[in-house]
Amino acid sequence: MRSFADSDADGVGDLAGVAGRLDHLRDLGVDLLWITPFYPSPMVDFGYDVSDYCDVDPLFGSLRDFDRLVAEAHARGLRMVIDIVPNHCSDQHRWFREAVADPDSSYRDYFIWRPPAADGGPPNNWRSNFGGPAWTLEPLSGEYYLHLFLPEQPDLNWRNPAVEAEFIEILEFWLARGVDGFRIDVAHALVKDLELRDNVQHRDVALDAPRREQWAAFDHLYDVGQVGTLDIYERWRSVAEGHDAVLIGETYVLEASLLARMLRGDGLHLGFWFKPMFIDWEPEQIRGVLSNALDEVDPNSMISWVSSSHDDPRAATRFGGGDLGRERALAFSTLLFCLPGLPFLYQGEELGLVDGIVTEDEKADPVGAGVSLGRDGCRTPMPWEPGPGFGFSDAVRTWLPHGGRRDEDTARAQRADPQSWFHRFRALIALRKTHPELRGPGVEWFESAEGLVSFRRGEIFVTANAGEQRIPLGVEGDVLFSTTGRTGTTAESSFIEPGEAIVVLEKSP
Ligand code: NOJ
Repeated sequence: MRSFADSDADGVGDLAGVAGRLDHLRDLGVDLLWITPFYPSPMVDFGYDVSDYCDVDPLFGSLRDFDRLVAEAHARGLRMVIDIVPNHCSDQHRWFREAVADPDSSYRDYFIWRPPAADGGPPNNWRSNFGGPAWTLEPLSGEYYLHLFLPEQPDLNWRNPAVEAEFIEILEFWLARGVDGFRIDVAHALVKDLELRDNVQHRDVALDAPRREQWAAFDHLYDVGQVGTLDIYERWRSVAEGHDAVLIGETYVLEASLLARMLRGDGLHLGFWFKPMFIDWEPEQIRGVLSNALDEVDPNSMISWVSSSHDDPRAATRFGGGDLGRERALAFSTLLFCLPGLPFLYQGEELGLVDGIVTEDEKADPVGAGVSLGRDGCRTPMPWEPGPGFGFSDAVRTWLPHGGRRDEDTARAQRADPQSWFHRFRALIALRKTHPELRGPGVEWFESAEGLVSFRRGEIFVTANAGEQRIPLGVEGDVLFSTTGRTGTTAESSFIEPGEAIVVLEKSP
């Protein structure tokens, strides 16, 4: 939202900006659009700290702008998915302010409070996802409150039915405005262990160590993945289904079995699988990360595939940067787009963007302070057109810098060049649409030459070369798609280059 398009020259993207750029998405072949939070917020975590769930922050526009965006999206055949943030709200939300001002208020139990441990410290050993303890002492009452993210994002108490009743109303509010679904933030963690037991700690880790190191030092037995969460989604689904809306969980768990657990029953329709963002460009890891999820999640079309997002370095950066990284990112997306489930693109992925350059002075992400890697690099503004502001904004200073974009990175330049990343991603999306067998169930993994990651989908053979050498393809047929733009037919002896992916309709014997 903040980095897509700025319509009012304040340096921050907004709803009207998105509405003005929908043709880009339509032309790319996108049919579902997810926008990050636009609700009133102190913006400590850039909108993931919501202070009113049923309005629009003036920074992003108004409810009228939202309605217009929905109408414009629908007019182009795009489904609109909004981000709902139920795990926590802002400490400036009326609920939390009342809970603090009056410990006897009915809002107190909207949050999770505990007295200090015997030594005066936090009630258990849980850590925040952003590093440090997951508890902050509230001085007026002398009790700690839980926050799995920033102290300004107190966790809601989903064991209190009043919290659920509030959110059912919130869902209904947005469904009545025409939204087609929800991306559910922190979908794996709404319900916490009843006794708030300590997580199992494997090794000592300082409270100021890099945030991912802190998180990984524990087995998260009690703060995430609690099955009680699933009952909530079953009830949400009955609300959503009346509107033909979809529930997509931000299931940020890195074990396929845990993802499968979150997708059990009649709750979430889909869950994001984030493990692909944590692998190297290496055939065994690539194949493992795809097949693990497909093996565990049943039926296997409930996976939302991602290779880039607003929270982690972009795929092109992770896979080596420059044109090498871009080639590999497209090859990886080729695999994802040929699997059952719902593949997502993060804005600018279709332009082959690497992370923008953000200097120390320009950093904005609170998570990026100190030793932890921040999220600014993947969040720099979309480059739409060559020129100052890159068509993103007329502001002299944007909320994050453009970060070293070149003219050839822009959507305008790429639309004019048939060989561009834009056109290759567009062809990939079209491939998925024109071949229903790529969307259906059934993936037959294929043992091909070392370095290749290959599978069959009916008559269609899909392979990516994640090795160092050119490798004979071993398959004869018509090329349906290739990351390097090759067309025509292939022979068994045709070579596939390192970093290339190809999709072939095999010749019947
Ligand atoms: C996941 C969101 O994608 C991220 O940006 C946010 O900081 C956390 N959830 C907390 O809401």
